[in-house]
Amino acid sequence: MLKEYIDIGYTPDETDFVCEYHLEPASGISFEEACNHMAGECSIGGWSDISRLSPKLAEKLKPHVFYINKKKHIVRVSYPQDLFEFCSVSQIISTVAGNIFNSKMMTRLKLHDMTFPADPVSELWGPKYGIGGIRELAGVYDRPLVISTVKPKIGLDPATHANVAYQSFVGGCDLVKDDENLTDQKFNRFEKRVELTFKARDDAEEKTGERKMYMCNITAPTCEEMIRRANFISNIGGHYVMIDTIPTGWSSLQTLRDVTEELGLAIHAHSMSHAAFTRVGEHGISLYLITKLARLVGLDQLHIGNIADKVHENKKELMALHDCCVMDKVKSNEKMHILSQNWDGIRPTFPVVSSGSEPALIPELMKIFGKDVIIEFGSAIHTHPIGTVSDARACRQAIDAVLAGTSLEEYGKSHAELQAALNNGM
Ligand code: 3PG
Ligand code: MG
Repeated sequence: MLKEYIDIGYTPDETDFVCEYHLEPASGISFEEACNHMAGECSIGGWSDISRLSPKLAEKLKPHVFYINKKKHIVRVSYPQDLFEFCSVSQIISTVAGNIFNSKMMTRLKLHDMTFPADPVSELWGPKYGIGGIRELAGVYDRPLVISTVKPKIGLDPATHANVAYQSFVGGCDLVKDDENLTDQKFNRFEKRVELTFKARDDAEEKTGERKMYMCNITAPTCEEMIRRANFISNIGGHYVMIDTIPTGWSSLQTLRDVTEELGLAIHAHSMSHAAFTRVGEHGISLYLITKLARLVGLDQLHIGNIADKVHENKKELMALHDCCVMDKVKSNEKMHILSQNWDGIRPTFPVVSSGSEPALIPELMKIFGKDVIIEFGSAIHTHPIGTVSDARACRQAIDAVLAGTSLEEYGKSHAELQAALNNGM
């Protein structure tokens, strides 16, 4: 009977998928018992009798628990690649982060990271555009890109929505996006919003002479409807679609990646609700792994969080997420629970810093991320008395100040909008 998966010292094959978990066994269960059970449940068998498997195949498919650190609650498992359908993130997650989360044998379990071997990496497409392609679309090469999220998030009619988008564009935003819960409601129908906001985009391009792009949320009840909406945007001359990642799921993201290859659209991804399972340190799936999967399936732009007071990420975490989005070879980092990953030329995902951004944060954000970051502003642009156009201008001026090597306070002396925004506590 082949149910002993603990194999300390085993060297993972370069074709294996390697996972690191945080594990806390339930009372009365030893760490080894819990690890053994977990590795089985995440592969060929946990509770079930595996004697029906041919011994040869069972040997080939069995996992290896090759590293255990009881004190730190860390366990690493190497899974043979034949357990997986390489191009299906849904199947991969169902395997290594599925039923086991409900097991009574452990009180806490968190999947920290997973190293993908070369073959699956090449079967998953990665982003169509990446940072270089997005910069070409935007015609902006030397500074962070700026997004405005139309606010209030829900309740505007299409004409008012388009007008807020117009003001954001004219004030200096490169991109305007919908909020995550705006899709096709009674007060703001998808088609009408698209039609009017693209007209606003055209008008703003004419007025400013700059390239402007609208990222409309195509999150929908079915993949068919999502595809119909993507086609609608493509036919009207759009460059992007926006999607809510966690609620729509991995298979719809992969469907969308497939469809946008043909349509030539970039994908902007809002990862709201990930914190339901990423936020607790010892249970769930890490945001780092969610970010890795997002790049593998091919999302061109991804929200990674912020250093603002509004959200809970810390600077180190954000830097790791940034690297996960952009680097070609990532080294393992034991402290951060990051495993090594060779991206093998897969294009980078453009990281988006969002939630609570304001002009005063720009120097710090650019110090951390440099120029290759997209900064999203919602409330900071739309809810202050100086108005959307001026607040958008203030954001661009804050970026200009950093690029000129000047403090915001100094730059504000000759730039009224930035000065006003700073006076308003932004
Ligand atoms: C988003 O969708 O990115 C958020 O709604 C951002 O809004 P905020 O900038 O006001 O936090
Ligand atoms: Mg939002």
